[in-house]
Amino acid sequence: MKYIPAFILSLFLLTSLSNSYAQLPHINEKQIAARVDSVLALMTLDEKIGQLNQISYGIGWGPTVKVAVPGEYAQMVREGKVGSFLNAIGAEYTGELQKIALKESRLKIPLIFGLDVIHGFKTTFPVPLGEAATWQPELAELSAHYQAMEAASAGIHWTFSPMVDIARDPRWGRIMEGSGEDPYLGSLMGAARVRGYQGNLSDLNIIACAKHYAAYGAAEAGRDYNTVDISERTLRDIYLPPFKAALDAGAQTFMASFNEIGGIPSSGNRFLLNDILRDEWGFKGFVVSDWNSIGEMIAHGNVPDLKHAAELSFNAGLDMDMESRGYSEFLEELIKEKKVDIKTIDESVRRVLRIKFILGLFDDPFRYCKKEREDKNIMNAEVKNASLEVAKRSFVLLKNDGGLLPLSKDLKTIAVIGPLAASKEDPNGEWACQGAAEDVTSVLEGLTKFTNEKSKILYSKGCEIDGVSKEGFSEAVEKAKQADAIILCLGESRNMSGEAYSRSSLDLPGVQEELAKKIFDTGKPVVVVLMNGRPLSLGWIDENIPAILETWFAGTMTGDAVASVLFGDYNPSGKLPATFPRTTGQVPVYYNHKNTGRPGNPGNRYTSKYFDLPLTPLYPFGYGLSYTTFAYNDLKLDSEKITKDQSLTVSVKVKNTGRYDGEEVVQLYVQDLVGSVTRPVKELKGFQKILLKRGEEKTVTFTLTEKDLRFTAADMKFKSEPGMFKVYAGTNSADVKEAKFELTE
Ligand code: NOJ
Repeated sequence: MKYIPAFILSLFLLTSLSNSYAQLPHINEKQIAARVDSVLALMTLDEKIGQLNQISYGIGWGPTVKVAVPGEYAQMVREGKVGSFLNAIGAEYTGELQKIALKESRLKIPLIFGLDVIHGFKTTFPVPLGEAATWQPELAELSAHYQAMEAASAGIHWTFSPMVDIARDPRWGRIMEGSGEDPYLGSLMGAARVRGYQGNLSDLNIIACAKHYAAYGAAEAGRDYNTVDISERTLRDIYLPPFKAALDAGAQTFMASFNEIGGIPSSGNRFLLNDILRDEWGFKGFVVSDWNSIGEMIAHGNVPDLKHAAELSFNAGLDMDMESRGYSEFLEELIKEKKVDIKTIDESVRRVLRIKFILGLFDDPFRYCKKEREDKNIMNAEVKNASLEVAKRSFVLLKNDGGLLPLSKDLKTIAVIGPLAASKEDPNGEWACQGAAEDVTSVLEGLTKFTNEKSKILYSKGCEIDGVSKEGFSEAVEKAKQADAIILCLGESRNMSGEAYSRSSLDLPGVQEELAKKIFDTGKPVVVVLMNGRPLSLGWIDENIPAILETWFAGTMTGDAVASVLFGDYNPSGKLPATFPRTTGQVPVYYNHKNTGRPGNPGNRYTSKYFDLPLTPLYPFGYGLSYTTFAYNDLKLDSEKITKDQSLTVSVKVKNTGRYDGEEVVQLYVQDLVGSVTRPVKELKGFQKILLKRGEEKTVTFTLTEKDLRFTAADMKFKSEPGMFKVYAGTNSADVKEAKFELTE
């Protein structure tokens, strides 16, 4: 297996790594099935049910390291009553548990250890939403590869990642864990992460889990765990494609989501778990519940008690129970009562054992528990370099009036102000796993290091992220007045996004905007550096601050990455994976919306719009500036008509018209003008990130085929329909050139 170290990556910036190292080896299904059956034949019913039981190791929800194996767990393992642990980590301690399974349980079936490795194990990479802003799936793959390497070295076999939920509502805190609002970008990113984690299933890879199946991101009002009620068409065309892409990339497990869809909780949803996932898509892996999502069907009001919940979930196709303990308590009884069939139990056990075989655990149960690897592979220079490279490319330049950025390296005094400027905790973002604050470079540290005493750095916090006190304002203003430029670090704290962190407002929390006004009033040049896990509404900031850089939560190397971008060593190239609204009241606002019968028209009151807002969002999907500028010209189609068997070549000339070399994400959208069901105003169908030297022009070409034009039609068939289409190419979803073509029979 050949890896490309991150420092070399910068040289091969735009080369896809995808096929170079992440290839699932051929799985000899026949041979594995025979071995699985030979184990199954020896198992008692109790032991079978044990394989379907996953419990959290340790106290509470968080990962637990360095505790002696508690008696309760040791006993369960000895008796074969548990197939998997989540949250047990460390080569040594997972090894201890594995030893009990291997030495003291009757059948010596190895345990599988799962963990939420979402954007890093110890070295953190940008949160997935930030990573999606690179529009470089190869970087998501690279980051997943390193995350896997660290986790696998600490005894982990399986990550509950990637999260491939589409999120159209930024109030939902978990938008941070996914790739944003678009099914196409989300599919590419999700698939890349699966490839990165699973690689070629070596002992430095981990099994991926596509979650949360399904439509968890469509929670009403963006409130976590909330009800979802969408049509089957929207489910299939918007929410399911990234799951299918993850499956096609080889994802071996899926996680059922907490939510209901149209009255049916996912954990008991046969249509999702069986009919679509297994029958339609041919999934061979296993499905795990979310944390107690089986038990939560009681609160959903779908079952009276845990026994009924276990029956419903199991018969719907949910193989492994994470922490409701419904399977361990009731499956045996349910079999006796003939409510569950032993054949179905056998099928689920087969699926779980198959993964354990695929991971090589039957052949070498301790292959992931080697202390030397843990010392060598975690947080080494190569991983940190990779994190830095991804971080730089995840930043989105939202505004740069007058070319304020990049900053001159000759500035005498720089004021670094704001509640996120010196934070080492927040840049890690939520779900940071073992990522520790002391390993993070804050923005302040990064700038200090970068300027290397050539500039004087003045720091002032100014205010808390979410406080009311303005006591720090005067000191901040004093420092600002002494500076040649001000870097103002604003945003959310790490735990304002992620699970259970939905917000009802997308404004900057606390008194941060007021601080910004005071700093702005000094008349000095101000650059706002944002850290946040979701699109924000940036009204006053956007109207007044000349330069704004969105950095999401960029992980361990945040400060280094920010410094490199602010001073122009790296020219920002990120693009928004989710629309930024003007106000919270504008959400959900997403680019691939429908036209309605009365498309919004500012000149006509009786059209679909808000009378107190412009039609457009603050920053559209796909938006992001560079220190240079690009001009799009000569959008051409090689034909005005194609049949279903022909392809269409779309080309557009892109020229670097500015003063710097730079990268641009050239985006291709399509609109199906008339359909048997209404169609979105635009759908992303392709993109290419290209590097253009100053003054350079390139012709970028895309190929479209009939397959790209398919959707769930009125007859519920996934197909294209003949007729007229528009093609758009441009720098973001709103700023595009257009052309037309016809798809004929
Ligand atoms: C609940 C979350 O919804 C899920 O994403 C996570 O994998 C599990 N808890 C396990 O921590």
